[in-house]
Amino acid sequence: MSRRKIIAGNWKMNMTPSEAVALINTLKPLVATEHADVVFCVPAIDIIPAVEAAKGSNIKIGAQNMYFEEKGAFTGETAPSMLTDAGVTYVIIGHSERREYFGETDEIVNKKVLKAFEHNITPIVCCGETLTQREQGVTIDFVRQQIKIAFLNVTEEQVAKAVIAYEPIWAIGTGKVATTAQAQEVCAAIRDCIAEIYDEVTAEAVRIQYGGSVTAATAAELFSQKDIDGGLVGGASLKPDFGQIVNYDTFKVVDYQ
Ligand code: 13P
Repeated sequence: MSRRKIIAGNWKMNMTPSEAVALINTLKPLVATEHADVVFCVPAIDIIPAVEAAKGSNIKIGAQNMYFEEKGAFTGETAPSMLTDAGVTYVIIGHSERREYFGETDEIVNKKVLKAFEHNITPIVCCGETLTQREQGVTIDFVRQQIKIAFLNVTEEQVAKAVIAYEPIWAIGTGKVATTAQAQEVCAAIRDCIAEIYDEVTAEAVRIQYGGSVTAATAAELFSQKDIDGGLVGGASLKPDFGQIVNYDTFKVVDYQ
């Protein structure tokens, strides 16, 4: 079965609303492709102008977070219906920065994943180990635990539509990209874990991204691995390089040596 690639930019806490519009206008022609889904996950305040700026293009707008309640006294949070009403179709859930700085646990991630599906928003569910965990040889155990809890009570029809982003924490924003073999190994283990919880057919449908210092130079090799269905890109998604990452299959890095 062939899975459609999905390449998402995670802008993190960058770009004011007017900068967001300018960046989308610059990137629009560069990220045009029929070979992959392209998603820009922008700060909450940028969503409305970003949806407007992306109209008529292949760019889908995603959020970087969402609360798991419908509405009410949750100061500062964004409800799922606010996202859908604004035109959002994807949401990043459980990014390691939210886990580290904002106390998100696997249980919170699970509540958010369930709520996203309830509202027909595709969750991009993040997982990934620390450097210590990798050095201790517990990467796969740890990631399996994150996945098992994140998808508790999620049905097989839902999980088949999910996107999982494997992002080793030591590779995020550090310039230290995981080797292709390391990335493929963990993405394959995630697919095996989904097959164990659900079944092979469901596992084959789930799209699994790699994230962590992806650049135009590394994208093609990473994204052509059997179990890697695209990427979640931070820093490089804010630059014209993102066009080369999205078009990794046609873009060639020229070696001038
Ligand atoms: P970088 O691509 O900047 O390493 O960020 C990766 C990331 O955290 C995407 O969610």
